[in-house]
Amino acid sequence: MHEKKNSVALEKARTYEETYQNLIPKGQKPTFHVCAPIGWINDPNGFSIYKEEYHLFYQYYPYGTKWGPMHWGHSKTRDFIRWEQLPAALAPDSAYDIQGCFSGSAITHEGEHILMYTGVREEEQEDGSKLCCQIQCIAVGDGVNYEKLMCNPVIKSDLLPEGSSREDFRDPKIWREGDTFYAVIGSRSADNSGQIALFSSKDLKEWEFLKIIEQCNNKYGLMWECPDFFELDGKQVLLVSPQDMLAEGLEFHSGNCTMYLVGTYEKMGHHFLREEVAAIDYGLDFYAPQTLETSDGRRIMIAWMQSWDNHITPHEFAWSGMMTIPRELHIINGRLYQLPVRELEQYYHNTVSYEGVTVNGPLELGKVRGREIDMTIEVEEGYYSRFRIHVAGNDKYNSLISYNLDANTLTFDRNYSELRRDTLYKRKMYVRNQEGKIKLRVVMDKYSVEIFVNDGEQAMTSLIYTSLDADRIVFYGEGNVKFNIIKHDIVVEE
Ligand code: FRU
Repeated sequence: MHEKKNSVALEKARTYEETYQNLIPKGQKPTFHVCAPIGWINDPNGFSIYKEEYHLFYQYYPYGTKWGPMHWGHSKTRDFIRWEQLPAALAPDSAYDIQGCFSGSAITHEGEHILMYTGVREEEQEDGSKLCCQIQCIAVGDGVNYEKLMCNPVIKSDLLPEGSSREDFRDPKIWREGDTFYAVIGSRSADNSGQIALFSSKDLKEWEFLKIIEQCNNKYGLMWECPDFFELDGKQVLLVSPQDMLAEGLEFHSGNCTMYLVGTYEKMGHHFLREEVAAIDYGLDFYAPQTLETSDGRRIMIAWMQSWDNHITPHEFAWSGMMTIPRELHIINGRLYQLPVRELEQYYHNTVSYEGVTVNGPLELGKVRGREIDMTIEVEEGYYSRFRIHVAGNDKYNSLISYNLDANTLTFDRNYSELRRDTLYKRKMYVRNQEGKIKLRVVMDKYSVEIFVNDGEQAMTSLIYTSLDADRIVFYGEGNVKFNIIKHDIVVEE
């Protein structure tokens, strides 16, 4: 039923990555975040459990640090922190995916690891012109090697409602309930904007279109990419990554954005009723999140920690792209909360803490520094107007996290982070007004700054490529700001 042995394209990618990833200078890559083995990566794919290990695949072009014909790269872990690199899993090597193996997802079924992905192929139109069409495909494997089904593609766009795009139909997220498989897939409706299509199957090969469960109606960007759909804390959650968003206050920024919709789901009629809509992350570098459910029932999300329009990888790097820290999700009062996986705590070293430090002007605390850290800063109340925290600093460079109490805004600013391109450097978000009380958890891993506000109520994720010896942290208060600070180094032994 499956095609035999690895294709020439896959063997070429595996040989290439094996040869060239060893040439990357030691210590250059992040310590506990998944990153490109070599070349380029984007979206997380196939985030799933197989034989008691968590597998993560990603959009991958090994041969350069820019996007190219998409392969699937592959890593696995037991604890979301210490990752093992595996050989590339898929290459664009079949007639139906020759232009690329685009994003998708995975599940385990009857001892096999099932990947569902989007194949891209050029099709000739009636008028002789060519169209890049997207279809859905399946590959089955053992955790290292995957074979594409002979019956691929398993879903074509002709199952979609009239007027739906054949070119924008991608990123299946698969799950199983009882004896039925379901998949939500991003699509573009006749009005040119995003819609999320729900399909079902009994055997993974024959699929039936059930319903459009959500629609953009040209309100939140255009095409909706990378859907994920799951139950959490008694609510139903839909994650999407809209393209061509128009900025809206401080909630959504222009371009490729991410958004969650929280609501209820009536399973029999497949009826999703949305109640809340908000951004998933307010930083500069966050896209295409995907989730899995652990065996102890936690919903974990990981995202591509880079942006399509502003990627700032230093040109001397032979790799580009990394993932966020995996985050535990919850719904509290209709909002999506996210915090780093608890497994991170097992890697805490050199913990230092300071209670009730009053800061008016600049203050540096000798031991509070580093580029691989998990640091929590709590301000209990305040007679102040603003505070700032400079991270990844030295005499020349720093990145700024600042809180303005009057405006209730938190800002991240990497203008002085050694950025050598004229690129986006600042983003701002509203936080809940608690009259000066605020809690920030800042996770850094060399080039990333992930900020979690008020126990995960909001997140702000951005990249900086400041030289690694810039590791100072300075606190500034305008007025009397009383900080509680606790900082852990993250040490992952080889
Ligand atoms: C999102 C995305 C997906 C697509 C993939 C291609 O970042 O555009 O919709 O499958 O990237 O690499």
